[in-house]
Amino acid sequence: MANTGLLAGKRILVAGVTMDSSIGFAAAKVAQEQGATVLISNFGRALSITKRIAKRLPAEAPVLELDVTDPDHLAGLEAQVREHVDGLDGVVHSIAYGNPETLLGGKFLDGPWEDVAQAVQVSAYSLKSLAMAAKPLMTSGSGVVGLTFDATVAWPAYDWMGVAKAGLESCARYLARDLGPEGIRVNLVSAGPLRTLAAKAIPGFGDLEDMWSTRAPLGWDNTDQEPTAKAICALLSDFFPATTGEIIHVDGGFHAMGA
Ligand SMILES: NC(=O)c1ccc[n+]([C@@H]2O[C@H](COP(=O)([O-])OP(=O)(O)OC[C@H]3O[C@@H](n4cnc5c(N)ncnc54)[C@H](O)[C@@H]3O)[C@@H](O)[C@H]2O)c1
Repeated sequence: MANTGLLAGKRILVAGVTMDSSIGFAAAKVAQEQGATVLISNFGRALSITKRIAKRLPAEAPVLELDVTDPDHLAGLEAQVREHVDGLDGVVHSIAYGNPETLLGGKFLDGPWEDVAQAVQVSAYSLKSLAMAAKPLMTSGSGVVGLTFDATVAWPAYDWMGVAKAGLESCARYLARDLGPEGIRVNLVSAGPLRTLAAKAIPGFGDLEDMWSTRAPLGWDNTDQEPTAKAICALLSDFFPATTGEIIHVDGGFHAMGA
């Protein structure tokens, strides 16, 4: 890989890569193009798909097994990472899950607590779990970046995932508070709608996509993960040394428009 670039010499773990449509895949690709050594992770049955997809990166990345709800996996992360690199300069949290049958697509008033609890654990609490599992590998100057979908307002269809994202956004601010004294930055990228596996599973996601096509002043290509990946990599680079607890919108400008 290139030894020049925005992330030259940096070691980065991207958690949450399944398909080559995954935002995590695009982040891993851009990070490699910018000179980073990249590890990727996933969990459960999707792990075998990730191992195939890893070969499509510019350089095949090692694939780690990490279920962010499994305490054994979290405890074993440091050793798994050290099989490949001796530390981490960046961690990307590209993970979310909410049961589409009970929580999304107009089910808000009936969403059962057990499923809501799972969505919050996987999609919000896990930012803290992952950051703490990776903390022994990080030093001052390292960064953690997660992905949100603007949780300051209520959306059609997004329902309990919106609540989980509000939790994620708050979690990122508290993590920024508690890891800042050690020089570790924690930021989020708020992306517009992108056609990934997770997005296609949301009943009614097309309504969100339609809004973007008419309102984003820069326009919005819901099949292009690269702008989001570039923002993730910029936040992991040395060019945001004094930024933490921040949410950068990569949405074609949608969030700034009233109508
Ligand atoms: N696609 C969009 O429109 C969009 C917009 C804004 C934010 N996001 C966010 O981007 C992130 C990545 O999602 P994506 O759209 O690339 O979809 P994706 O389905 O490709 O990625 C989600 C990943 O989360 C992983 N995951 C789920 N549960 C897990 C667990 N318990 N442990 C470890 N990994 C687990 C899945 O295996 C998958 O790899 C998510 O946080 C998502 O909410 C997506």
